[in-house]
Amino acid sequence: MPLQIAVDGPAGSGKSTAARRLARELGLTYLDTGAFYRCVALAVLRRGVDPANEAAVTTVSAGLNLSFLPGAEAEPDRVFCDGEDVSEAIRRPEISRIVSLVAAYPAVREKLTEQMRRLAAAHPVIMDGRDIGTHVLPEADIKIFLTASSRERARRRWRELETAGRAEGLTEENVLAEIEARDREDSSRAAAPLRQAEDARLIDATRLNPDEVAALIRAIVTEYRAGAKRPKYWYGLD
Ligand code: DC
Repeated sequence: MPLQIAVDGPAGSGKSTAARRLARELGLTYLDTGAFYRCVALAVLRRGVDPANEAAVTTVSAGLNLSFLPGAEAEPDRVFCDGEDVSEAIRRPEISRIVSLVAAYPAVREKLTEQMRRLAAAHPVIMDGRDIGTHVLPEADIKIFLTASSRERARRRWRELETAGRAEGLTEENVLAEIEARDREDSSRAAAPLRQAEDARLIDATRLNPDEVAALIRAIVTEYRAGAKRPKYWYGLD
């Protein structure tokens, strides 16, 4: 099996920044799995489907053709849905508001999980999400659970939105309320909820900057390589 690194945690904890950076450094394929759930939410909104209608949402998601292209160097990642570049559209606040609802449907999760597992079977990967270490890749070589206080996560997310010109009348308090609602929904759903895997390493990034988070994960990878008992297929790491 190619190397698998799972990075899970709540919204705004810095998972994608850290995972993207480590992917470049270690030569791994990066996948932001939340982007796929966001694509389903976008298609649902665009087609005028009620996000509370599980059967209709499942039908929409079953027909989608999704792909993810990690950005080179400082380039942003690109997300495609049925051939259209939806990278910007899926980050809009109206998508963030309904994505947890559509992500709770088991049939939606099954389809996306299957696609994630296919990628991991073919390439050494680092994936970030909510259930990578617990459900998508339970045998992952390295599992990280990255978190931070909700106040700090809201502050960072708010800054990001403002910098990108996507704040649209939102305040930091609105972002905090949205993040806390999403944490609750993601953690309490029946199908593969957000939780720390028993064998995951916990990193609390409340007082850490992205460089410090990346350094901690790098140290965990180095430690794993030094201590790995089973021979592994290490391509991408040497
Ligand atoms: O990481 P993000 O905020 O872009 O994720 C958007 C939503 O997708 C998140 O609120 C929950 C869902 N998600 C999930 O259920 N499982 C994953 N592996 C990744 C994301």
